Amino acid sequence: MEAPLGRGPLPKAELHVHVEGAAPPDLVRRLAEKYSVDIGGLFNEDGGYDWQDFSSFLAVYDKASRLFRAPEDYALLSETYLRQLAAEGAIYAELTISPDHAAGAGLSYAAYVGGLAEGIERARAETGIEARMIAIGVRHFGAQAVERVALQVTGAPHPLVTGFGLAGDEREGHPASFARAFRIAGEAGLGLTAHAGEFAGPESVAAALDFLKVRRIGHGVRAIEDPALVERLAAEGIVLEVCPGSNLALGLYGALRFHPVNLLRRAGCRITLNSDDPPFFRTTLGQEYASCAEVFGWSREDLIAITGCAIDAAFCDDETRAALR
Ligand code: ADE
Ligand code: ZN
Repeated sequence: MEAPLGRGPLPKAELHVHVEGAAPPDLVRRLAEKYSVDIGGLFNEDGGYDWQDFSSFLAVYDKASRLFRAPEDYALLSETYLRQLAAEGAIYAELTISPDHAAGAGLSYAAYVGGLAEGIERARAETGIEARMIAIGVRHFGAQAVERVALQVTGAPHPLVTGFGLAGDEREGHPASFARAFRIAGEAGLGLTAHAGEFAGPESVAAALDFLKVRRIGHGVRAIEDPALVERLAAEGIVLEVCPGSNLALGLYGALRFHPVNLLRRAGCRITLNSDDPPFFRTTLGQEYASCAEVFGWSREDLIAITGCAIDAAFCDDETRAALR
């Protein structure tokens, strides 16, 4: 295969997108019809997801997730998203998956992962895009639930589930209470990442590094509030899965020019660009690349380096990594 970073459309890679958070409203509406579910309150008059703040975002997200009830629903979701991503020039993606959300819709872990894997294989066959899955525990469901996910994932290894992570409401639960889950996942060889520095400050990022032993952080942008921590991130080569559009939509920053991604990058932090929950935040990976290039004056070479950083930090085998470079 021709080296994807060589020429042609700007190659992109995404390390941080929640698969349920990537559900196009049209697909959700179709599933509501299929299962005869009333989705009043889910969408606004423009047809987009209707939420006002982080808590109501999480509630709408949970409600939409409950409409994915069969493996084929999830296959359609991963295939649809990855095809769209490939059309934007993406060569690699890691889909964050949530076994607890699937269980909430009545689906076993095996059926959930099986459906998603089928969609991933179909998208790869159609477009060439490579993808892996990162299973997450939901922080506000509690430490026991997160540990249960770690045991589920390590007890039934799947070749495309290569990472373990922590998402949900960062305002709840200290990282120390999730240390056991992360130890289980790490000892099984899974790549580790955790949301931190989104709705809590630098101390949350430092605690994720110290207690969860992660080398990647979901968001991490509020590290900017502590210069010593920024230095530590740069010195230790921690990779930040930055999601600027998500941070703007959720009100962390008032405009992209005030977002710290450029300062973090200039301070030597390893950063990647990601969409998090694209239709919820009215963004796409392509838009994230384009708007950062415009606002921060990043060149094509800068963007290619960001993609390269994502490929270097990807939770995939070295053979796949080499083929993507
Ligand atoms: N789950 C889905 N999107 C999330 C976000 N931005 N932060 C934490 N948990 C999430
Ligand atoms: Zn996220």
